Amino acid sequence: MEFQNTLAYARKLDEEDPLRSYRSEFHFPEHNGKPVIYFTGNSLGLQPKRTQKYIDEVMSDWKNMAVEGHFKADKPWWDYHERLAAPLAKIVGAKPEEVSVMNTLTVNLHLLMVSFYRPDKKRFKILCEEKAFPSDQYMLQSQVRFHGFDPEEAVVTVNKREGENFWRTEDIVAKIHEVGDELALVMIGGLNYYNGQVFDMKTITEAGHEVGAMVGWDLAHAAGNITLKLHEWDVDFAAWCSYKYMNSGPGNASGVFINEKYLDRTDIPRFEGWWGTKKETRFLMRPEFEPISTADAWQLSNAPILSVAPYLASLELFEEVGMPALIKKRNKIVAYLEFILKEIDKEVDSSFEIITPEDRGCQLSVFLHGEGRPLFDFLMENGVIPDWREPNVIRLAPAPFYCSYEDMYHFGQLLKKGILEKVS
Ligand SMILES: Cc1ncc(COP(=O)(O)O)c(C=O)c1O
Repeated sequence: MEFQNTLAYARKLDEEDPLRSYRSEFHFPEHNGKPVIYFTGNSLGLQPKRTQKYIDEVMSDWKNMAVEGHFKADKPWWDYHERLAAPLAKIVGAKPEEVSVMNTLTVNLHLLMVSFYRPDKKRFKILCEEKAFPSDQYMLQSQVRFHGFDPEEAVVTVNKREGENFWRTEDIVAKIHEVGDELALVMIGGLNYYNGQVFDMKTITEAGHEVGAMVGWDLAHAAGNITLKLHEWDVDFAAWCSYKYMNSGPGNASGVFINEKYLDRTDIPRFEGWWGTKKETRFLMRPEFEPISTADAWQLSNAPILSVAPYLASLELFEEVGMPALIKKRNKIVAYLEFILKEIDKEVDSSFEIITPEDRGCQLSVFLHGEGRPLFDFLMENGVIPDWREPNVIRLAPAPFYCSYEDMYHFGQLLKKGILEKVS
């Protein structure tokens, strides 16, 4: 596609954008009375305006009905979380019964590892990507230690090649085969938080299964961003958070996927609580646990409604728009941002480099040569909210729900000014 780095052209792209009306569905922080250029939907998505209504509804039901709200509210609280499964299943490519919402992401990954990481003396290793998201590294290390293994030996990483900024699928597959029958679990971030790379989840899942390992994915940066086909790819389990591309609020609830082949298995251990037992008999308060026949069997506590409500509000937006339309805009706006970055780079003589590979979602990671931090600070002072990652990377995620092409143009102009003023 032939782009142009002009305001008129950016505005034309906005006029042609079928999702343009959704920008006004979100609250933007302001800088000097104007909405900021928001690039951190991969960290915390903006607040949808309709979220307030969902929270107010719960607050008002609580005020007016108190405990009766569990069963008599318009959206009764005792099964409120069930409303999220069907729309979420569409987003992650699952059957509704394979999806549940509960807890938070790291908690869920730990809980899922109770079921899907069951090492023995021979098969005990976990394979992940080099420099996985720190919480995942701590989780994997603490899990293997919990089972009596040494993380140095039990956690195997796949490295990028010397001089390359991305992981090669063939290297991951080769490592899986090398570890072979010692491999208990493959556990990778489906979209890398640092370089923005999308992993070939289908091929890697197949390779894990070929050597008899379980395969789970941390989809924090993937859910609501890229096409996922968890059921079709035969993924064993996955979890994601809701506060990035899913716009559900800081630290909010996490979604889980558990492949349907495990839903009725009695030989798979699981930590259990009363919200995982059948609804029909739950309040008989019997000692026997009768698992719900869906991923809800992994639920522990009664759902935190004030946290699930914003997630439901957000899923309503996803239902309206659908992933294909979001992905179409995402591809175009990311391509436009990339074009603008390359134009500016030509004009200011190569002071940065895009390290995100072709297999990408919404994010471009830009490695700044020289002193990067002053440039980042300059952008922040001028109404841009990008994200800084050590040692010298700025992450830019133009979320298709609310970012405009005009934002990309203005960002390019500011970037150029910042480089000329601050770096050279
Ligand atoms: C890739 C990835 N994994 C895990 C986490 C941890 O999420 P939480 O704090 O919700 O457990 C994050 C948070 O940003 C993340 O980006």
